[in-house]
Amino acid sequence: MSTTFQLDTSTSRATPTPKPRKRLTVPRIRDHKKDGVTKEPLVMLTAYTARQAQLLDAHCDILLVGDSLGQVIYGLDSTLPVTAEMMIAHGAAVVRGSYHSLVVVDMPFGSYEGSKEQAFETASRIMAETGCAAVKLEGGEAMAETISFLTNRGIPVMGHVGLTPQAVNVLGGYMARGRSQQEHEKILRDGKAVQDADAFAMVAEGILEPIAVALTQSTEVPVIGIGASAQCDGQVLVTEDMLGMFERVPRFVKKYEDIAGVIDKTVATYAEEVRARTFPSADQTYQPKA
Ligand code: KIV
Repeated sequence: MSTTFQLDTSTSRATPTPKPRKRLTVPRIRDHKKDGVTKEPLVMLTAYTARQAQLLDAHCDILLVGDSLGQVIYGLDSTLPVTAEMMIAHGAAVVRGSYHSLVVVDMPFGSYEGSKEQAFETASRIMAETGCAAVKLEGGEAMAETISFLTNRGIPVMGHVGLTPQAVNVLGGYMARGRSQQEHEKILRDGKAVQDADAFAMVAEGILEPIAVALTQSTEVPVIGIGASAQCDGQVLVTEDMLGMFERVPRFVKKYEDIAGVIDKTVATYAEEVRARTFPSADQTYQPKA
């Protein structure tokens, strides 16, 4: 399905054709899994800009404004330096560019772990200033009290267990989790704690497939996998990874396109034409009226 957009120049709001389906809500995403079973997996991708959101929206159930924007957009080494201001600027852009998908914005490192009150302050600001429907935060048992505090105060929370990139310095790297029995059991306990704290869904990242299957089968809320299993209740990828914007492709990513290659070829053609003075041509220049 392809969508076109007509720009209203007075509001800068782009109206899509065909008319988008109604915006999905948190309860609808939560209820996608019924009695522990999901018929059709949820489709989630990251989005960081309004135009990207426009292009992804019709195909997705959830758009995640992930703190992976630290590496993808800002060229940072990790997600740790990402700020609430960055998340808010990109979150608001994605809400403006989307119509149908539920928009979830990541809580950045250091903005919620200090206390439940700190988490509420950051989450309420993110929601008020972006218009997003929910926030995502990393951590299982340790974050359960915070998740419960937020949901009881009107802030829907998506959990994130397994490989939690904000804890890279504790984990010692980005390798898959769950290779020891202790880690295996901890991931299942984390998932249960997040569910019991009333998260409406959770991301399960970088875990061994049997653990992802066990987690999915043992929880009532949707488990959205990344580097997990096709048996999860949904899948998420970083959009730039699956489109082939980067040379390095993590094992769990399927590169559906080679957009970096397309850009390289296209820009080489442009550069050649500029240097040869064949661009702009008569088609792209303004001439006096005859
Ligand atoms: O920040 C992010 O993009 C994420 C996804 C990889 C789940 O948290």
